Amino acid sequence: MIDTPVAQTDVDSLTEEEARGELKRLAAEIAEHDRRYHQEDDPVISDADYDALRQRNARIEARFPALVLGESPSSQVGAAPASGFGKITHRVPMLSLDNAFSDDDVREFVGRVRRFLKFDPLQGVLAVTAEPKIDGLSLSLRYEGGVLVYAATRGDGTTGENVTVNARTIGDIPARLSGDVPDVVEVRGEVYMAHKDFQALNERMEANGGKVFANPRNAAAGSLRQLKSEITASRPLRFFAYAWGEMSALPEDTQFAMAECLGRWGFQINPLMKRCESVEELLAVYHRIEESRAQLDYDIDGVVYKVDRLDLQERLGFVSRSPRWAIAHKFPAEQAYTILNDIEIQVGRTGALTPVAKLEPITVGGVVVSNATLHNEDYIKGIGQDGEPLREGKDLRVGDTVRIQRAGDVIPQIVDIDLEKRPADAKPYEFPTVCPACGSHAVREENEKTGRVDAIRRCTGGLICPAQATEKLKHFVSRNAFDIEGLGDKQVDAFYQEKLVTTPAEIFTLEERDKQSLTKLRNREGWGAVSAKNLFGAINARRSIDLNRFIFALGIRHVGEGNAKLLARAYGSWDAFYQAMQAARDPNGEAWAELNDIDGVGHIVAEALVEFFAEAHNREQLDKLLAQVSPKDAEKIEASGSPVAGKTVVFTGSLEQMTRDEAKAMAERFGAKVSGSVSKKTDLVVAGPGAGSKLKKAAELEVDVISEDDWFDLVGA
Ligand code: IVH
Repeated sequence: MIDTPVAQTDVDSLTEEEARGELKRLAAEIAEHDRRYHQEDDPVISDADYDALRQRNARIEARFPALVLGESPSSQVGAAPASGFGKITHRVPMLSLDNAFSDDDVREFVGRVRRFLKFDPLQGVLAVTAEPKIDGLSLSLRYEGGVLVYAATRGDGTTGENVTVNARTIGDIPARLSGDVPDVVEVRGEVYMAHKDFQALNERMEANGGKVFANPRNAAAGSLRQLKSEITASRPLRFFAYAWGEMSALPEDTQFAMAECLGRWGFQINPLMKRCESVEELLAVYHRIEESRAQLDYDIDGVVYKVDRLDLQERLGFVSRSPRWAIAHKFPAEQAYTILNDIEIQVGRTGALTPVAKLEPITVGGVVVSNATLHNEDYIKGIGQDGEPLREGKDLRVGDTVRIQRAGDVIPQIVDIDLEKRPADAKPYEFPTVCPACGSHAVREENEKTGRVDAIRRCTGGLICPAQATEKLKHFVSRNAFDIEGLGDKQVDAFYQEKLVTTPAEIFTLEERDKQSLTKLRNREGWGAVSAKNLFGAINARRSIDLNRFIFALGIRHVGEGNAKLLARAYGSWDAFYQAMQAARDPNGEAWAELNDIDGVGHIVAEALVEFFAEAHNREQLDKLLAQVSPKDAEKIEASGSPVAGKTVVFTGSLEQMTRDEAKAMAERFGAKVSGSVSKKTDLVVAGPGAGSKLKKAAELEVDVISEDDWFDLVGA
């Protein structure tokens, strides 16, 4: 179970400290959703909810640029590859697209592009292409000498899975390209499943007693990532080409002509693609495509716009995870009415009581929906962040007819209530004040500093709460933590109930105890000699583990995967980390200051860490665990790579070879931080003609000053 978001404070009223905590929380939450979506093909929130999380993250980052995390979601795409397939590092990263949700967002996009390029109408029209955004999964195909050498999924954008054997079974993917083709060609596009093929496949799966797929996207993803290529071959997958990665030569100089060229080489390109010369034309294409959506035999979730001229694309470049020259204009979410049958309370690993709406199943946009997120008790009452009314303040009651919305995937949102249909005996929902799993009091803590009451009610049962304990164990063995195969949610629940495994350390003593036990695992229901042996093997394989995984597995509040990596890199070894966490209890000491100084680790995380390690019981558990498991030392990473990595650079004066935005983007690409003013922290000033006071200040502070040409020499661009 994923911990749901806490009630949201308006971004504009967040204090710096709250923002820091929020960014951490959002990073962890987004990473978890990425993992579920990309690795497990099993998302638990709607695309719209996911987009909202990313937007909030981006808005907070825009307000507090200094707090942007090293592992910010805005610089990451998708999730690291799942095990089972070989890995392929993309020579050109596979990026994502920024989203637009309204006509105004599109106007702003075009305006932004023009400003960045200083492209005024006198220079002619700025052509932009528009094409459907296919709701499938992206694939990169590498051809050498015109022959397919490999196919890789996007993975985390840098490294994907090698699915070559499977990709070869897809009819739309040519094994050999036609015509005159450059030596190296990487074609990128979307693997998808047509509606009629999806229905036929599900009917076939159902007839064979198998599980059916929720939607064509999941079916396409599940089919492509089969370890047995015969299965992929039996699944009707298709492919649209729309982009490229490495190319030894570019045969054309516009996006549109490149798409036509991909068509000549033997790919399917989308017939609805158009080249437009104004925003109004782009929007007209968008609305036309939206109208034709119901008639298309495949799912699309928006329209992608791309600056047509490739030289302009090159100048525009990228901003963290997405190109500046493209944007996805998303379709509005689909909606439907249904009945709220019940509200179920789930207890998470940190004791958070999370309400989930149980809905009368209904089909929205081709998918059956029966659950919706309810976030917290205020949300049910119709109270939003900062006490603002939600759904015009209407509270949710069991029996209500509700309007739900989903944008692409599984768990949707309740956006409104039809009060006219409310049953006469419907009562306001009473949120439990005791934990449904252990009966302990469940409380809403008050934040000492802000005086605000937390939106989340938490069980105070701690260790005695079976729900918290099992959720903690599930987290401990999860894929990004200890990743113990064969120890899934079902097994953890069963082992816990039988008191075989109640703490992480007991996972590692299971085999020894099993040897002495009369009721051996292999004789239990659902187990056999092979599965028991495999489980013990999988457990033993984790007796040595990366430090960051170990830290993440501990489930310390606010310490997600990103923070765990930062901590592992900063301290290098478990012993150093552990000692530092003990020493950091002294708020005037060096260890506390050092912990807070780690780039990306804020006050809230630091406090959570100190609190965790101060607890005798946690230390006791750790001792037991460390008797079984050894965390491997981590590589201490200092900023490396380019000569300006980690440096703070100031650009001043008029630059002649690039715009200010381009200069900033370039510096960031090489790992530098760009600042607007010269201070003691400045490492380098790049000065063009007409530089004034900043140059003087640089001289005063003895900061290195170089010319624009020197800059290009330095970074080797
Ligand atoms: S262009 C550098 N065009 O949308 C960006 N992407 O949200 C290259 N997608 O990762 C992507 N249809 O998987 C592009 N016509 C289209 C697309 C498309 C679907 C997917 C693609 C991408 C994701 C971004």
